[in-house]
Parts: sequence; C-alpha cells; structure tokens
Amino acid sequence: MIHVPEFHLGKNFLDNGMTKLLITLVLIILAPMIPLYILNISSPIWLPYKSSESRKCDIFRGTWISYHNMPYYNNATCREIFDQQNCMKFGRPDTDFMKWKWKPDKCELPRFEAEQFLELVRGKSMAFVGDSLGRNQMQSLQCLLARVVYPEDIISYTEDKRFKRWFYVNYNFTLASSWAPHLVRTIDTDPNGPTNDRLLNLYLDEADDAWAAQIETYDYVIISAGRWFYGPQVFYENGKVVGCHRCLKSTIKNLTMFYGYRKAFRTSFKTLLSLARFSGVTFLRTLSPAHFENGEWNKGGNCVRTQPVSNGEMKLEGGDLELYLTQVKEFRRAKREGKRRGLDFRLLDISAAMVVRPDGHPNHYGHWPHQNVTIADCVHWCLPGPIDTWNELLLQMLKRERH
Ligand SMILES: *[C@@H]1O[C@H](CO)[C@@H](O)[C@H](O)[C@H]1NC(C)=O
Ligand SMILES: *[C@@H]1O[C@H](CO)[C@@H](O)[C@H](O)[C@H]1NC(C)=O
Ligand SMILES: *[C@@H]1O[C@H](CO)[C@@H](O)[C@H](O)[C@H]1NC(C)=O
Ligand SMILES: *[C@@H]1O[C@H](CO)[C@@H](O)[C@H](O)[C@H]1NC(C)=O
Repeated sequence: MIHVPEFHLGKNFLDNGMTKLLITLVLIILAPMIPLYILNISSPIWLPYKSSESRKCDIFRGTWISYHNMPYYNNATCREIFDQQNCMKFGRPDTDFMKWKWKPDKCELPRFEAEQFLELVRGKSMAFVGDSLGRNQMQSLQCLLARVVYPEDIISYTEDKRFKRWFYVNYNFTLASSWAPHLVRTIDTDPNGPTNDRLLNLYLDEADDAWAAQIETYDYVIISAGRWFYGPQVFYENGKVVGCHRCLKSTIKNLTMFYGYRKAFRTSFKTLLSLARFSGVTFLRTLSPAHFENGEWNKGGNCVRTQPVSNGEMKLEGGDLELYLTQVKEFRRAKREGKRRGLDFRLLDISAAMVVRPDGHPNHYGHWPHQNVTIADCVHWCLPGPIDTWNELLLQMLKRERH
C-alpha cells in the first residue's frame, strides 16, 4: 500500500402527497422510454459537446436547468460529508449551485429515490475503486441514501479511511471504497519528497492488490482514475522499466501519461475479466473535469463561479480530453471482451455534464480561512452539489441492469 496524503490538489493532485403523485405519474410516462436509452448507452464520442441528432434518449447528453426542489440533503441530514467537500460548513455564501437539475435532451432524468436504489441493491455489494473522486461519489450516494437509512461501519477491515466498507443492515447491502488512484501497483520512491510532485513507480501490468484482491465477490464495481496520471512516473512492464513520464532521467525513454493511463485501464479491465468468480457489472465513471481559472492550479488558480456555463462554453480539452478518449477506448475494448465472458461493462459518462459545472467545486470552502491552504480545490465537488447527479445516473443504469 502506498502512503500518500490525500488532499493535495492540482494536476498531479492525489488525486464529493402531490409531489409523490406527480413523481409517480412522471415515472409511468417515462417507463416506455427506458428501452430507448438502453439501446443508446454507449453512444458515440460526443466531445466537444454536440447536441445529439438521434431521437433516442441519451441520459448523458443534455443541459442543466434551474430547479428549486434541490438539494436532496444538507450537512445536517448527512453526517458523512468529508470536511474538504463540506462547502456550507466553511461558509460558502452562495447556494444556487445546488439548485440545478440535469435534463437529458430527449428525455427526463428521474429524481433519485433512495428506497428504490436500496431495493435494487438488496443483498448486493458495490465498490468504488479509484481516487478521492470515487470516494466523493460514494459519499454523495451515502448522503442521498441517508434519507432512508444510515450504514454501519462494522466491516471495514482496516482503520485506514481510504478503505472503508459500510453495511446497510436492513438491505444486506455492502458499500465499499478502495483507494487506488493509479489502479495499478504503485511504489512511492520518495515518501518524503514533494507531496504534489514526487516520482512514483507504476507497474502497468499489475493491478493494485488494494482493490484487485478484494473485488471478486462484488456485484458492482465503479472504477475511475484521472488527475494522478499528470504526475512524474516511471512505467514498468514485466518488472522492467519501459519508460517514464516527466521523470527527467536522460537514460529512460520518455512516454506520455496517456501511455500509462491506457495500460492502467487495460490491466484493470483484464483483471476483472480474468477473475474466475467475478460476475459483477463494471462501470467506468469517466473523467471528472477540473476547473482552474485565473491561473494554473499551483499558481493561484481558483474556481469562483456560482453558475453553470452554457454548453460549449467549456469543453474537455488538452490532456483531459485525451485521457477521456483513452479511457473510453479501453472501456470499449473491455466491453467487447466482456460480452464473450458474459460480463457487463457500462459507461457512466459524466464528463459532458460536469465540464459545464465550474461552479460545483469547493474552491476555498473546504477548510477554514485561517488554515493556510494556498491551493484551491477545483477538482473535488461540494456536497451537496452537481456530483449528486452521478448517482441519479447510476440509479437509472442499475434499473436497466434489472431488465
Ligand atoms: C453545516 O453548515 C452550516 C452553515 O450552513 C454550519 O454553520 C454548520 O456548522 C455545518 N454543520 C456541519 C455538521 O457541518
Ligand atoms: C446477504 O447478501 C449476501 C451476498 O452479498 C448473501 O450471500 C447472503 O446470503 C445475504 N444474507 C441474507 C440474510 O439475506
Ligand atoms: C525526456 O524529456 C525531457 C524534457 O523534455 C528531456 O530533458 C530528456 O532529455 C528526455 N529524455 C530522453 C531520454 O529523451
Ligand atoms: C502560508 O503558506 C505560505 C506558503 O506555503 C507561507 O509562505 C506562509 O508563511 C504561510 N503563512 C502562515 C501564517 O503559516
């Protein structure tokens, strides 16, 4: 296990009566549409954003609409909010950023129903594998479910907060998160080095046992990776150095971070495909965009907006776009192989929705003003906030799994 502090931010950051009747009516009206978006789930790559021409519903393409009946919870009804994402606690003055709803172009995204979610996962287990953004989503899920029930932390196998296992007793549902920001085995060569920028050795063909050794019995695996790949890394394959990214060693071949990223996903998917007893559904949660403006992440960059931008005003670009395209390509490959093995792979394609939400990050409201934190958090997402939509989307995908 590697020991790296968790909350340093940046590119290589280590790396969130009547109504009932109406909802029922909406659900009844929507029910016939469900098969439509089943068909279109792994829709073509849409970045930069284009409005889809097809008449089918793609829940991942749409716009944010102002919606007063939000948020679902607050920092009093959910006690599990990590300080760094508890924006209200630290005095974020504006609340409008919570009051938006994702509206797919050709259909509606139903509201999150905690009871429905819990019934779908009764007797099952779900693991978030990846970096702190995976945990950010898991906490959003816990907060959304807190309306019904709060889980017990009775089965964590370690004190380490990065490896939590929660148990929903009445639903026999296990929810876990596994810290594996690079997904593959990683060795920190310089534990006392600069926290944001130290050299790591990545064994690109060996899945990180922190998750791989635990995952075989899980029913749902939500996998993700991102910002950590921006950092300096030496890549190993078959136990030998094959190259590096930003290691500045003249004897080692320069490779891109995309090389490492592709291999890390390939190895992770391969691992899932090769585990004899694994019969779960794998979700790739696509790249979560960061929004540093007014400077780079480590040079005073921040994220002070209080509203979403319109579609097209911000896009995935540069490294983020290529990381996105890389992971989707590896996902498609795994999906094809999964078909042969009878394993489902699903794309939780949140990037388009999130790239227009520069207003959703903690910025400087993840700590007290007197705490000397110079770097703004424009990576994670405030809770409550737009990240709750990831779980609205997840719920719709789980409903499809039942068909
Ligand atoms: C919740 O947020 C309020 C401000 O809206 C703050 O005063 C309070 O301390 C916070 N409570 C917790 C438990 O985070
Ligand atoms: C709880 O779920 C597990 C699978 O996750 C299953 O093996 C077990 O039988 C279930 N227990 C009960 C009491 O339903
Ligand atoms: C790799 O790139 C760095 C920075 O551009 C350069 O200093 C170094 O010499 C290169 N290494 C090799 C082996 O080409
Ligand atoms: C805050 O951090 C900056 C940069 O790390 C440092 O120069 C400054 O002395 C610190 N201030 C306090 C009050 O600790």
